[in-house]
Amino acid sequence: MTITYKINHPITTDQFIDLLNASTLGQRRPTENRNCMTGMLRQADLTITAWHEEQLVGIARAVTDFHYCCYLSDLAVEERHQRQGIGKQLVTEIQKQLQPTCNLILLSAPAAVDYYPHIGFKKHPQAWLLTNKGK
Ligand SMILES: CC(C)(COP(=O)(O)OP(=O)(O)OC[C@H]1O[C@@H](n2cnc3c(N)ncnc32)[C@H](O)[C@@H]1OP(=O)(O)O)[C@@H](O)C(=O)NCCC(=O)NCCS
Repeated sequence: MTITYKINHPITTDQFIDLLNASTLGQRRPTENRNCMTGMLRQADLTITAWHEEQLVGIARAVTDFHYCCYLSDLAVEERHQRQGIGKQLVTEIQKQLQPTCNLILLSAPAAVDYYPHIGFKKHPQAWLLTNKGK
């Protein structure tokens, strides 16, 4: 199966939400808040999408300065296309756009805690999170 990867290719909020739902990540993102989802899409610095023909099957969405740090906020592959190397390739495509000095940082969904070490990520014991006020 040929998968095509596109850099910063525009997609709609509905396509984004549908893909997250089709991957199961939608359960852990504010998909009911369209304003937030639209902002996530529009204000991202780097988005790689994976396509099977005309169908959107995967996404990696990152916030980054391209030189020092890159927060990989969302990595999602539609369930039917999982475990075919698309997630790993999406991470590789993100890395290709970054300077060699740039680290990738992420928060794993519970379902993916064994995935990230499998593709080379190291757990960081000094990571901290200041959560929003839930407004
Ligand atoms: C996690 C996710 C992005 C992985 O993408 P994917 O395309 O299915 O994974 P890949 O095919 O690139 O997998 C690469 C390797 O990791 C393994 N792997 C895949 N998912 C795994 C998991 N959940 N746990 C452990 N290993 C996993 C694959 O078997 C493969 O191993 P191999 O290289 O030894 O053959 C995808 O399964 C997904 O969208 N999951 C639901 C949403 C989610 O939890 N996203 C993470 C948010 S932080």
